[in-house]
Amino acid sequence: MSGRKRVGVLISGRGSNLVSLIEAAGQPDFPAEIALVISNKADALGLVRAAEAGIATAVIDHKAYKGREAFDTALTAAFKEAGVDIVCNAGFMRLHSAVFVREWHGRQLNIHPSLLPAFRGLHPHAQALEAGVRVAGATVHFVSEDMDAGPIIAQGAVPVLPSDDEDTLSARILAMEHRLFPLALRLVATGAAQLEGGHVVYGADAAPPFLASFPAP
Ligand code: GAR
Repeated sequence: MSGRKRVGVLISGRGSNLVSLIEAAGQPDFPAEIALVISNKADALGLVRAAEAGIATAVIDHKAYKGREAFDTALTAAFKEAGVDIVCNAGFMRLHSAVFVREWHGRQLNIHPSLLPAFRGLHPHAQALEAGVRVAGATVHFVSEDMDAGPIIAQGAVPVLPSDDEDTLSARILAMEHRLFPLALRLVATGAAQLEGGHVVYGADAAPPFLASFPAP
């Protein structure tokens, strides 16, 4: 299908969100295709998942570069060579330099397992349990220079049950992530969600940018 946006995916590990994007892109009406998957870790399981789907992969090890900018320059070069239009961070555990964020401004998405702006950074599930919130979830946002803080594209909410521990809450949020990331990528790839003046604006015919799984599954 012509006219589909070319997506580069950044991963560091398991790659379950990558798989959700690959599966979505396998649908004929999906407005994007996965052109290249880059991992900063050679042993990332997601690389195997991408290769199984016949998608080009690359390992770009941050430790081989002197500093963040040099590493990010290599990422951008690889994505440009692959004709990438949109970058998706799917469990990519490195902070980007300002130059990378500017290069992909309005064209780079990140998924985070909390209802931002709550619980940025590491261990968001433990943070949610510690805070005692009764609703948790996942957020897809445009990447900005601050970690887990860019303009929000889509959010998905799940309940927090009194019996939850980090494992059960993570699993419930992850299932939501797998629905949410394709939805957000679709919105951006079609232009139905765009970054304008620090906020996301939606086209009149955009799908609602939120999901919820209530009551608890
Ligand atoms: C996902 O839960 C994703 O939201 C999170 O890492 C996990 C990766 O899992 N990302 C962050 O915490 C980024 N701040 P996956 O490799 O199976 O997609």
